Amino acid sequence: MLVDVILIGVSYLLGSLSFSILIAKWVKGIDIRDHGSGNAGATNTLRVLGKGPAIVVLVLDAAKGVAAVLLAGWLADGEQWTMAACGLAAIAGHNWPVWFRFKGGKGIATTVGALAALAFFPALYAGLLAIAVIALTRYVSLGSLVFAAAAPLLIFVMRLPVPFLAAALVLCLLAFIRHRTNIAKLLSGQENRLGGKKGVTH
Ligand code: G3P
Repeated sequence: MLVDVILIGVSYLLGSLSFSILIAKWVKGIDIRDHGSGNAGATNTLRVLGKGPAIVVLVLDAAKGVAAVLLAGWLADGEQWTMAACGLAAIAGHNWPVWFRFKGGKGIATTVGALAALAFFPALYAGLLAIAVIALTRYVSLGSLVFAAAAPLLIFVMRLPVPFLAAALVLCLLAFIRHRTNIAKLLSGQENRLGGKKGVTH
């Protein structure tokens, strides 16, 4: 039990390493949260800093989700509830980072990483669906929401363990809550499209 609590705490601290904030500070000396959409994530890094830094942010933010789940799987002997809780803790850390005044991102890259480690094929299929949606509409937020909604559905259909389904349902809820501004903009036709003009939109 103590091990589980420590692992959840470590996952939260790991998730709190917000790579868009760190890289924007390092590359340009700016706070990414004051630019573009104001979100601390890969999409806004692309908007503000360009492709290279955005790919680095995407990979590192996803990697911390993977690392949290795999570390829990290793140190908690594959206990599924602990792995699921650690994935969620890493996402919570990304969204509300202790190192950056609790103002973080929307958690999608970390969600992709955590889900890929918990339930690889549902994450893969949901990811492919999300990529198709982004390619067709150029709305990253819509693709993110499709990913978050498809993951629990696929986990359920593919009859994966209940702890993973529970985690996917919670992360879906978190994604929708964190994207509420994007949802409003999507509905009013004001949402930023990938490759659209840069600028402060929040
Ligand atoms: O994962 C974040 C993405 O879905 C939306 O980002 O910066 O356009 O609000 P942004």
